[in-house]
Amino acid sequence: MAFLSWREDYRVGVEHIDEEHRGLFELINEFHDRHRGGADPKDLAKVLNDLVQYAEEHFRHEEQTMLENEYPAHAAHCRMHEELYLAIFRLSEELAADSSSMTMDTHSFLRNWLVSHILTHDLQFADYLALRAETARREQENRRASETPEDEG
Ligand SMILES: [Fe+2]
Repeated sequence: MAFLSWREDYRVGVEHIDEEHRGLFELINEFHDRHRGGADPKDLAKVLNDLVQYAEEHFRHEEQTMLENEYPAHAAHCRMHEELYLAIFRLSEELAADSSSMTMDTHSFLRNWLVSHILTHDLQFADYLALRAETARREQENRRASETPEDEG
């Protein structure tokens, strides 16, 4: 069984965001499997570097989607991404400097790093999107109702 399993209730509902979240899960699983399998520190460092890069790109994409949807918590969310990014960037630096610094705690750290952010903050964005879509739908309905001449229908 995978270290981190994807669950439907992690879905934000924006296809590219969910796809990238799954990509992050895969990289963390790969890191976990290689570490447990006794991989060379260089291999581990490579996976962690991939994770750092992938996370950076993903955060930019997610932030862009938030901007496009006029998400009021955009700035606060960007700050959280910055902190998350720094946390794994530091981890990758530590691993590069001393491979014995990697322990099983690192895995739990990575799991919490990702999952708690998605569950707490990305899903708030999902709620916002759902509300926004619902509001837009109602407005359109109201508009249609007011445009319909009374003697028709
Ligand atoms: Fe996020």
